[in-house]
Amino acid sequence: MIQFPKDFLWGAAAAAYQVEGDNRHADWWRWEKETGKENSGPACCHYDLYELDFELARGLHHNVHRLSVEWSRIEPEKGKFSEAALKHYVDVILALRTRNIEPVVTLHHFTNPVWLADLGGWAHRRSVDYFLRFSERVVRALAPHVRYWITINEPTIYTSHAYLFGVWPPQERSLLRTRRVGRNMIKAHIKAYRRIHKIYKEASFPKPMISIAQHMMALVPCAPTLKNRLAAWLRHKMFNEEYLDALCRNKALDFIGLNYYSRQLVDVEKWGIGNLFADVCKKNHSPVQKNALGWDIYPEGLCDLLLKLKKYNLPVMITENGICTSDDRQRWEFIAGHLTSIHKAMKAGVPVAGYLYWSLMDNFEWDKGFGPRFGLIDIDYKTQQRTVRESAVKFSQVCKTGILE
Ligand code: BGC
Repeated sequence: MIQFPKDFLWGAAAAAYQVEGDNRHADWWRWEKETGKENSGPACCHYDLYELDFELARGLHHNVHRLSVEWSRIEPEKGKFSEAALKHYVDVILALRTRNIEPVVTLHHFTNPVWLADLGGWAHRRSVDYFLRFSERVVRALAPHVRYWITINEPTIYTSHAYLFGVWPPQERSLLRTRRVGRNMIKAHIKAYRRIHKIYKEASFPKPMISIAQHMMALVPCAPTLKNRLAAWLRHKMFNEEYLDALCRNKALDFIGLNYYSRQLVDVEKWGIGNLFADVCKKNHSPVQKNALGWDIYPEGLCDLLLKLKKYNLPVMITENGICTSDDRQRWEFIAGHLTSIHKAMKAGVPVAGYLYWSLMDNFEWDKGFGPRFGLIDIDYKTQQRTVRESAVKFSQVCKTGILE
């Protein structure tokens, strides 16, 4: 039996574009059409059905919910803000508050307004100012009801997929652009961090808690050779810690939002910069179970990473952790395994404040479409029928009691 603290935050996370549906002014919407990828279309109709979904979350004893606001709805044209969209998100937050669910609000979760994409997206020199202006509008509207903010979701994943691997819009493949976009995102966070604190101070609201959601992989050397250990260390510094370090240097983090999914088994073929950064084991050494997308399931990696975060001396919130699978028993094993790992880290002194499963319901998994099923709640995309999965019920017992049997 494992017991978590009484005030632990329990819940799930989601992102606007993946659940709301009909986000026509977003760069992703246009890109889906242009590339012939599966279309996000109405997604889960969450824009209209949010009350229903939050009622389900309440029934599952969640006391926290992470959502994002869709920039392209709020500012569909450059400089023109939609009061209706802002009001919608106020209503959404209030729908959580009335159910005693703490909102965690993300300002940027992978999508951009088309107008920004046309200007050059996050590579544009004024992208930082545009993000700041947008953030300020949102924060002014939502501040009375929101304490936790995530400025930017997974900057390393966004920059690498969109600007290095070329698999997300705008499909570039340039290390220089990747670094430039990354630097702009760091600047954007720091400026937004300061502005949000200022807004709360001026309004005499209690201090907000602000972070990014940092994606981290457990980087495990295959055989413990010098090459592999050096590569694992380098990758950890680069992919897991670089942004956190930059934000800490600028005193712009109140907690660490951590997204954790999987392990990378590092096996470097030969000395070379590319090899050090990219080679993985292809020989199925140390095999573990995989999710439906073939990602390794590796709960112990979460404990290892949490221990590494201790040096930052900040509270940690698991802002995402989840599995896509057609076997719901595997989902529950995944959750239980990761909770056990978190608890181990907490016993070793890591201050973890909450756990948000990804995701409340099945949703649009970006370039992978609707195939992967991450949800605690099953969505029938033909009827929009919601069905609570068995794993969700088991998890709800932990949310209710704080005890994992
Ligand atoms: C992202 C989510 C995504 C999830 C599963 C995270 O990297 O923040 O938007 O759906 O992983 O791939």
